[in-house]
Amino acid sequence: MSTAILSAFAQEQAGLIELLENPVCVKRAGREFWRGHLHGQPVVLALSKLGKVAAATTATTVIEAFEAKRLVFTGVAGGVGPGVKVGDVVLATDFVQHDMDCSPLFPRYEIPLYGLSRFACDAALNAHLLEAAQQALVSIVGASNAKVHQGLIASGDRFVSSAAEVAALTQGLVDAGHPPLAVEMEGAAVAQVCHDYGVPFAAVRTISDRADDTAHVDFNAFVRDTASRYALGMVQAFLKRL
Ligand code: ADE
Repeated sequence: MSTAILSAFAQEQAGLIELLENPVCVKRAGREFWRGHLHGQPVVLALSKLGKVAAATTATTVIEAFEAKRLVFTGVAGGVGPGVKVGDVVLATDFVQHDMDCSPLFPRYEIPLYGLSRFACDAALNAHLLEAAQQALVSIVGASNAKVHQGLIASGDRFVSSAAEVAALTQGLVDAGHPPLAVEMEGAAVAQVCHDYGVPFAAVRTISDRADDTAHVDFNAFVRDTASRYALGMVQAFLKRL
């Protein structure tokens, strides 16, 4: 029974693989899963790939084939809530799919046949991850001014990259009572899989952009130079607390 650490990008995962004790790479579902120990904890490291379907496949595989007893996701997100700045961190309390629309059969944003629009993260895991994130950011060079926000994250199969789009997307969610702090492309899918299996889930996202017309500028450099260091520090601090 291990802790699954899912990353969106290989750069975020690389530092963790380097630290892995007794690493073993297993191939499944067109993906590489790295088993081993980190800070005394049995872990399985995996890439979600991008988008909801790919992330759901990775989440299902770590649960079914690697017996993950909890999942933690690290990645980047576009900040859309007030005061959520590039370089800040958002700890998800819950997830909504901003592109789910089965209206008029079901209310906008509701996941059909679940009677739910949001999937909650695990409160106990979140408490650990919040402390870990706050502790890690203090010691990461350049991160000491980063704020850790907690709230709703909206996922969908779009890289949101225009001021008009982010305004419309956010307004729709706000009007429906789901004000988001950040947008990304995987978390709600992983949260839904974990809900289905009854497996605790938590997610922390470093804000890489504001989902506006400049969202793509410096994106890769941010993931490589900043988000990867944040993810490494936060995951290590988290595992030490388990
Ligand atoms: N991940 C990071 N930034 C994002 C954005 N602007 N839209 C969707 N996913 C993201």
